[in-house]
Amino acid sequence: MTQASLINHYPAHLATVQERYDAALAATGYDAVLIGAGIARLQFMDDQQAPFRANPQLLQWLPLTAHPDACLLYQPGRQPLAVVVRPATYWEEPPAAPGAPWADGIELRIVAQSKAVPAALGTLPQRLAVLAPEPHLQDLAPAEHRNPRALIEHLNYQRAWKTDYEVSCQREATTQAVKGHRAAALAHAEGASEFEILLAFQQASGQAAADMPYPPIIGAGRHAATLHYQHYRQTSPSAGSLLIDAGCGCQGYASDITRTHVREEHPAFAELRDDLDQSQQQLCARVRPGVPFAELHHAAHGEIAALLVAHKLVEGTAESALERGLSRFFFPHGLGHLLGLQVHDVGGRQADPDGSDLPAPTRYPHLRLLRTLEAGFSLTIEPGLYFIESLLQELRADPAGAEVNWDRVEALLPLGGIRIEDNLLVTADGAENLTRDAFATVPH
Ligand code: GLY
Ligand code: MN
Ligand code: MN
Repeated sequence: MTQASLINHYPAHLATVQERYDAALAATGYDAVLIGAGIARLQFMDDQQAPFRANPQLLQWLPLTAHPDACLLYQPGRQPLAVVVRPATYWEEPPAAPGAPWADGIELRIVAQSKAVPAALGTLPQRLAVLAPEPHLQDLAPAEHRNPRALIEHLNYQRAWKTDYEVSCQREATTQAVKGHRAAALAHAEGASEFEILLAFQQASGQAAADMPYPPIIGAGRHAATLHYQHYRQTSPSAGSLLIDAGCGCQGYASDITRTHVREEHPAFAELRDDLDQSQQQLCARVRPGVPFAELHHAAHGEIAALLVAHKLVEGTAESALERGLSRFFFPHGLGHLLGLQVHDVGGRQADPDGSDLPAPTRYPHLRLLRTLEAGFSLTIEPGLYFIESLLQELRADPAGAEVNWDRVEALLPLGGIRIEDNLLVTADGAENLTRDAFATVPH
């Protein structure tokens, strides 16, 4: 598909981005905006560069993912102007100048040094907002117009709706990640270590660390209970479970996918995983326009409470387990988040473009997504059920702990936990599950 699909959709995407900026600039009283990619920073006391992550606001205009010091000037009614810095050096390869179709709707100027950027921009409009971390770009506007909150909130709010180009990027990022997940599952079944599973994922997805939206989380056994587990052990895992949360990037857009694998010697855990997978699909089936995400999150707690009862991890009914807050000790994170140019994309708690926040439910104060879903939103659905030692200790001390079947919980503790995470696009009357669609088409 992909390159052709991206290219075909890009002109309409660019027009939409321009319209959104037109509205945001008009609402916040600016004549123009200058967006910087960011600079390549040296590590402290070192001559080595830290990994470069381009400003996502720039990537929405054009995919300058490896172009420190690049920037784009947009003034409504005029063609956008991008300046790309290509130093003449033989130490590193200078970043490529964007060709067609990226450059078709955008005027492009190439300079050899970042200090030449201001001159290449020409005369700047009066009321200019700068969205950039670079000091040499920030200097082009008075302090109050550098990264102005009001403009950023307008833009963040609009990012929730994906254009066809953005969906194509996300589809491709999903397909690549699913290839990696298939290879990782195979490696785990063959007894590979976390480190070997990482290599298997990267090999199959064709992504280097710099391409990925976040470092893959590859937790075998108890490590799966650390939600953002960050190591890659080289020894073979003794436990037969694996939680792998790994996504890919495409033109700066992310996929964010989790699967949990179990070897056959743990049938009780495998059943729990299969049932959570069913619950996850039921939650996915409820994704449609008009649904407040906090309601879905509450429904996810209902699903987890029901699983705890069905698997005899707690006594009583699903209703009482939910009522007494038991599910929160096993499912301590949000059901999902907006997904796009950042893995946890912006604007999920905004009530409107002016930046007022939506009220969070008292029971769930930390959700990343509170908005009511609308067609065009891209988001994750990622319920989990974990055996986290510190939370279980708290639960032992809690009156609700008396309802826990501790023998069964402790038997599953060495397997860490389960998360199933898909990426969905809200459509006019439901949702498209990009992840399950890719698993259905990418061969084993
Ligand atoms: N990969 C981080 C998350 O699922 O939110
Ligand atoms: Mn996620
Ligand atoms: Mn994830």
